[in-house]
Amino acid sequence: MAIRTILTEPNPILRQISKPLEKVEKDQQKLMDDMLETMYHARGIGLAAIQIGVPLRIIVMDISKEENNKEPMFFVNPVIQKKNLNFSTYEEGCLSVPNQFAEIDRPSTCEVEYLDYYGNKKKIKAEGLLATCIQHEMDHLEGILFIDYLSKLKKSMIIKKLSKQKKIDRIVV
Ligand code: NI
Repeated sequence: MAIRTILTEPNPILRQISKPLEKVEKDQQKLMDDMLETMYHARGIGLAAIQIGVPLRIIVMDISKEENNKEPMFFVNPVIQKKNLNFSTYEEGCLSVPNQFAEIDRPSTCEVEYLDYYGNKKKIKAEGLLATCIQHEMDHLEGILFIDYLSKLKKSMIIKKLSKQKKIDRIVV
């Protein structure tokens, strides 16, 4: 396993639409292992492949929040079948939008079909944090970030902040 670099806004790669996988074999599992390690290292609860620069429809997640009882989840080629008409609100952040948070409304439950780590077809009914997290990650597959749901002004302020942070990082080597 290896820790990969997480791309951050405003990197145009994050805006790419990811492609479906044709198969789930060793190479793809190795990529999922790397994604999981990268996500744990960055202390995130979800990561899409595009966030490490790979435009494939893969998501890893772990919402267990327990250091000693990890519950990794892998979603390959996920498709949302049903969404609830009721919305729930969470304060969301994103490893690709570091240190920025905003309240986002999303359907409170959803049904998702996907392939698991071994390429087996699975279906899940998600609610609560899991539903929100899956939808956040699936947005990444379409090149969408949570800040896209904010007003133009709020979004541009966040992007400005992130761009400034980057400049500082380049000087402090
Ligand atoms: Ni994210």
